[in-house]
Amino acid sequence: MNIILLGPPGAGKGTQARILETERGMVQLSTGDMLRAAVASGSDIGKQAKAVMEQGQLVSDELVIGVVSERLDQPDVAKGAIFDGFPRTAKQAEALDALLSQKSLALDAVVEMKVDDEEMVDRVSGRYACGKCGEGYHDRNKIPKVAGVCDACGSTEFKRRPDDNAETVRSRLVAYHEQTAPLLSYYGPRGKLKSIDGMAAIDEVTRQLKAALDG
Ligand code: AP5
Repeated sequence: MNIILLGPPGAGKGTQARILETERGMVQLSTGDMLRAAVASGSDIGKQAKAVMEQGQLVSDELVIGVVSERLDQPDVAKGAIFDGFPRTAKQAEALDALLSQKSLALDAVVEMKVDDEEMVDRVSGRYACGKCGEGYHDRNKIPKVAGVCDACGSTEFKRRPDDNAETVRSRLVAYHEQTAPLLSYYGPRGKLKSIDGMAAIDEVTRQLKAALDG
């Protein structure tokens, strides 16, 4: 099964994708993660993407489509892909259709995660993670049991994404509403679109997501 998780920054796409990876053996394809890895490696792609990402704008379609195309050549995609953060524009959606068709893969569902914008500013600007194992935390909602020490691995190093500040989150939300939300009308008429409540507790969102995929 190949699916798209569609929703603004902070909607919980990554959170739910990781749960589906663990519970269903699918593979999370997060273009945000791929681009951050490119930035960290200092590659040409990373150099082109870095400033754009830090401003909360979208990286060019050509660059992102190239990254996804390469990723879809990896054999693990056969386990079922969870597209997280891709497609984000009409051009990317058309390119994904073409890529899937070239690789004889089908798109089974597009799941919209409906959320409230202001809550997303709080969720994302308060987010940070362990620098060693990646365990996620939040300034108010999830703090380490012992201050400054990761619950999962005991590391004392934490990191925050450079684009996770209130001002940049607002730019990312504008980009979502202007360029990505119109994809709802692209997928709706194709009968692939389902909507779930991303404001619910994480377990409940997972329950709704699985029901949408299995229904
Ligand atoms: P990307 O990495 O894709 O970021 P995003 O879409 O802004 O999404 P986030 O990772 O911020 O949020 P999420 O929905 O995954 O939420 P999460 O599960 O982490 O993109 C970053 C940048 O890369 C873009 O701005 C752009 O520049 C570039 N880019 C990427 N893809 C691109 C593309 N296709 N085209 C062009 N440019 C591209 O959850 C957030 C927080 O909320 C966490 O702390 C979590 O614990 C918490 N949380 C999750 N669910 C719940 C819940 N139900 N209740 C309470 N808290 C919750």
